Amino acid sequence: MKHQGVFITLEGIDFCGKSTQADMLVRHLKECGHEPLFLREPGGTALSEKVREILLNRGDVDVTDRAELLLFLAARSQLVDEVIMPAIESGRIVVCDRFYDSTYAYQGYARGLPLDVITEMNTFATFGLVPDLTLLYDLAVEAAQQRGTGTVPAHDRLEKEKVDFHRRVREGYLELASRDPDRIRVIDADPDPAEVWKRTWELTRQSLSEHGIELDEK
Ligand SMILES: Nc1ncnc2c1ncn2[C@@H]1O[C@H](COP(=O)(O)OP(=O)(O)O)[C@@H](O)[C@H]1O
Ligand SMILES: [Mg+2]
Repeated sequence: MKHQGVFITLEGIDFCGKSTQADMLVRHLKECGHEPLFLREPGGTALSEKVREILLNRGDVDVTDRAELLLFLAARSQLVDEVIMPAIESGRIVVCDRFYDSTYAYQGYARGLPLDVITEMNTFATFGLVPDLTLLYDLAVEAAQQRGTGTVPAHDRLEKEKVDFHRRVREGYLELASRDPDRIRVIDADPDPAEVWKRTWELTRQSLSEHGIELDEK
């Protein structure tokens, strides 16, 4: 029997362990006889990679909060049309490191852009595509920063602002999860990677099974 694919997204603050878990997930799905498609946002198409460069290396280029939102959505829209939809339609498992929950958490909850506007524009950009499963890796901001830089954040004003920003991102994610608990599953990202992986796989396996996808687990 031919099935539609499954769309899984990974979310969480910087350095919480998304890429580590995504890598383990993609490797394990291959071991189980699948050909997962791995993507990370923003990126994944020629246009989206150009937008990624603008967003991640802005240097002295001013980008307003609204312009930033539109750039993320432009990159996402191209990715959905060109890559994600065709892959799902052909029955593949698509794993995406960040997707639209990042927009709500960062541009909405942390930067303060209106959530209803984000919803409307995101729906337009994605044709209403919703992930089948979203794994939210929850970790305290200080613990994440320690993973990223090996240091605890300093206490000057700028550092405090940064920490407060990432706290709002984290709280925003948890709020999203509480509103949509069937799709967004919160995983405690504090234990070691092997322990976190157990939960990643448990939730993924459950979702794949609900979608009728067989796993050839060795
Ligand atoms: N569960 C974990 N415990 C401790 N360190 C971790 C864990 N998961 C990832 N790391 C390390 O933390 C850093 C950030 O992880 P990464 O997966 O790149 O996070 P993200 O993609 O969310 O930014 C990396 O150096 C990684 O090896
Ligand atoms: Mg990463």
